[in-house]
Parts: sequence; structure tokens; C-alpha cells
Amino acid sequence: MNATQNLKNDHLTIKRIRNISKTCSDKLYANQSIPITDIEIVSVIIEEFVDNFHHGKEEKAYFPETKDKDGFAEDIRKFVIEHELGRRIAMMLRRELKEWKKNMEKEDNHELSKADRPTNEPVARFLKSYAVFLDDHIQKEDKFFDMVEEKHSITNDENEILLKFYESCKNQAGGKIRMQEMIHLIEYLETREWMKA
Ligand SMILES: [Fe+2]
Ligand SMILES: [Fe+2]
Repeated sequence: MNATQNLKNDHLTIKRIRNISKTCSDKLYANQSIPITDIEIVSVIIEEFVDNFHHGKEEKAYFPETKDKDGFAEDIRKFVIEHELGRRIAMMLRRELKEWKKNMEKEDNHELSKADRPTNEPVARFLKSYAVFLDDHIQKEDKFFDMVEEKHSITNDENEILLKFYESCKNQAGGKIRMQEMIHLIEYLETREWMKA
């Protein structure tokens, strides 16, 4: 697998994360109950797999290697800005999730008045925003990757170097075992009751 296909392959996994995020949001909006721990897992997968690992490979290896080729600089500049947007949404999701959890605990301890009932609306909103962000970003990058492949912009030697870089990105994101765990967590979420229609 070459360096470009490697990223496209990640996108297939990220599309699964996108589907989980979207379904989770839809179900929350429909007032279906979802264990907060499941949503915490979604948030961890976003942070570790999408952001640290996949965006790490793009930002630290693939983009620096391709940005001076074939007029790619502008596309890459936009992709990096989009990553920042994704990070902001993920950060707000984490913050709202914490808030919701805190309020649920307070409610359990009868420390909240009726007017302050915990709401999961912000969590549903940011899960949806993240799914929309992924849809848009992945679609644009896939097109870009197709173009890189059509133009044969990356030499075999560069491919080898990139694949080695990816390995160090994997280590920075928690290592091989941790990334396998991410895949298992995605599989786990996909089989949850609330993921079914
Ligand atoms: Fe990206
Ligand atoms: Fe990507």
C-alpha cells in the first residue's frame, strides 16, 4: 500500500466513525437514551484515531512532502485549516460531554432544581457538526488524493519515506496496540443497540 492509499484507507475507517457520530446525534435528538460511556468512547476515538493519528500523518508527513508539488499548496493550506475546525468541534464536544455528565450526577444526588435538568442537546449538536465536518473534509481530500495519484506526484522513494514517517506517527498516537484497540472500539459501538435502526 502506498502512502496515499494508506490515508484513503484510513478514510474508510473514519467514515464508520462519521456514521456512528451521526447516528448517535440523531438518536439523542429523538430522545433515545444512549449510555454516556458510549459517547465518551466516540469522543476518545475522534481524539486519538482521527485527530492524533490520521490528521497527524497528514500534517506531519504527507502534507509537508506534497505541498511544494504540482500546485498543491493551496489545497493543503485549506485542509490544515479544516483540521483546526475539526479540533475545535471535538474540543467543544468533550466540554459539553463533561458538563452533561456532571449535571447527570448532580441530578442523581438531587442537587439540581427541576429547571436545571441536564440537557444533552449540545452533545447532540457537536456530534452532528463533527459528522458534517468529516463528510465535507474526507470528500475533498479523497478527490485531492485521486489527483495526486493521477499525476504520479509522489516517487517510490518518497513513498517509502512517508510510510516510515507514518510508523512514527502511529507511535506518537499511542502505538500499534492502541490503534488496534481503536478499531475494536469502533466495532463495539457499531454493534450497540442504539446503532441499530
Ligand atoms: Fe485531513
Ligand atoms: Fe484525511
